[in-house]
Amino acid sequence: MSESDRRSRIFYERRARINDLQMRVASLLQGVWEPSERRKFVTQMELTPGQRVLEVAVGTGSNLALIANDVGPNGRLIGLDLSSAMLQQCKRKFRRLRLKAGLIEADASQLPVAGNTFDVVLHFGGIKDFGNKKKALKEMIRVARRGGKVSISEKCVPPDKRDSLRGRLLLRLDPLLAHEPPVDLVPSTVNDLHCSWFWNKTAYMISFTKPYGVPPHSAPQTQPTQG
Ligand SMILES: C[S@@+](CC[C@H](N)C(=O)[O-])C[C@H]1O[C@@H](n2cnc3c(N)ncnc32)[C@H](O)[C@@H]1O
Repeated sequence: MSESDRRSRIFYERRARINDLQMRVASLLQGVWEPSERRKFVTQMELTPGQRVLEVAVGTGSNLALIANDVGPNGRLIGLDLSSAMLQQCKRKFRRLRLKAGLIEADASQLPVAGNTFDVVLHFGGIKDFGNKKKALKEMIRVARRGGKVSISEKCVPPDKRDSLRGRLLLRLDPLLAHEPPVDLVPSTVNDLHCSWFWNKTAYMISFTKPYGVPPHSAPQTQPTQG
């Protein structure tokens, strides 16, 4: 695991209990009502009942809980995260909402799941801090089924907004928000590549479908614990 992943894990282990509250307050300060923006993010994946979905860096499971309603009781949900404390909060949330998901503690750059498994693979928030973004992206594509959807979102100040008062303030609070949407890391072989903005224009959303010709690579598998 890289040094930046190690730091990230320590950060989220400490923050887990107050993560949702902090996220809600930070979003309001950005002029964003978090539940409706998350709904937008989930809706663009056009989920259907019975689908198998993996969220990489699931955190406390706020997206996965919405997804659970869309895929219904026959869907299969897996949430993966580096932080056991965040997964613990996710487990609590799912128990409270009477929802089910398998949870795996692992690094995004080494997904312990078989290739070509999921109808949808999503990620929202975290990739800007990943030690190996390229490998994480490659892994997300590997575990999506052929023709399956991959959706990657992250907070970011768009280049044309960096000189505005709001942009400068956000960048002062978190300089990593100046990173670029990693479109250049997406293989040119994917289909329907699309990049848009949401979260009051402070998060990007890259989505595409996996081509039918990409062979799976083998990876060690881990059994998820029940959330
Ligand atoms: C900003 S939170 C986002 C959580 C969730 N996706 C959401 O939308 O609220 C970032 C999450 O990424 C996780 N994370 C950071 N680096 C990771 C890595 N290399 N592999 C897996 N998870 C990672 C953190 O533990 C944390 O739970």
